[in-house]
Amino acid sequence: MRKKIVAGNWKMHTTLQEGIVLANEVVSLASRISHLASHIILCPPFIHLKSISEIINNQSSIINVKLGAQNCHWEEKGAFTGEVSASMLKSAGAEFVIIGHSERRQYFRETNEMLAKKVRVVLQNQLTPIFCCGETLDERKKGKQFDVVTQQLLEGIFHLQESEIKNLIIAYEPVWAIGTGLNATPEQAQEMHQFIRKLLAKQYNESLAENISILYGGSCKPDNAKSIFAQKDVDGGLIGGASLKAKDFIQIVNSF
Ligand code: PGA
Repeated sequence: MRKKIVAGNWKMHTTLQEGIVLANEVVSLASRISHLASHIILCPPFIHLKSISEIINNQSSIINVKLGAQNCHWEEKGAFTGEVSASMLKSAGAEFVIIGHSERRQYFRETNEMLAKKVRVVLQNQLTPIFCCGETLDERKKGKQFDVVTQQLLEGIFHLQESEIKNLIIAYEPVWAIGTGLNATPEQAQEMHQFIRKLLAKQYNESLAENISILYGGSCKPDNAKSIFAQKDVDGGLIGGASLKAKDFIQIVNSF
């Protein structure tokens, strides 16, 4: 059985104090759900990690909220002023790291080659990468979405051995849907998720493909999460804007 996951990507939002309030609200609301059908991962800014890991460590054992980061450097350590390594994230309590978010690709010129190295260092530190892929509006208009995603996976993660990639989560996030209020339709999401799963089966094998969680991201909100999550190959969501409001986020978590 694939894991159902709802991850909140807080991006560059919330001061440390605001982040602590938000994390406490999420944990408290989650603890009121009697049968939580999915895993929750919070991905706050770097400087929040340690404090939020303490909040998470104090939660009751039933709810299982986990901690993730939004990025890391591809080297273990060194003279890279301003960067954060995978082992640092781990030492602050993170278990997951978002890699290759489209904002990193777009604004920070992250290439598939860099991402391939990041994924490897994350796995070497026994953390789980949440690897993002997805096409721009222009690419979709030209009908190139499948080629773009294939290339991102080929160059970003298909260098991994089966024993490594089985510990990875994929997030399909069409760039045109991120922060725009324009979500992919459930059918568009299913079509791409099924395509990704077939690629995994071809590159590795059926059983590996069946066991990897593929999340949808891009304007996922309380009012559309249910129909998107109901798709056969959609195993949850990577949530941006709606993860900044605890009630909305938990409503999405409850959409399974
Ligand atoms: P959004 O962002 O939910 O605000 O569209 C999703 C993401 O960027 O991960």
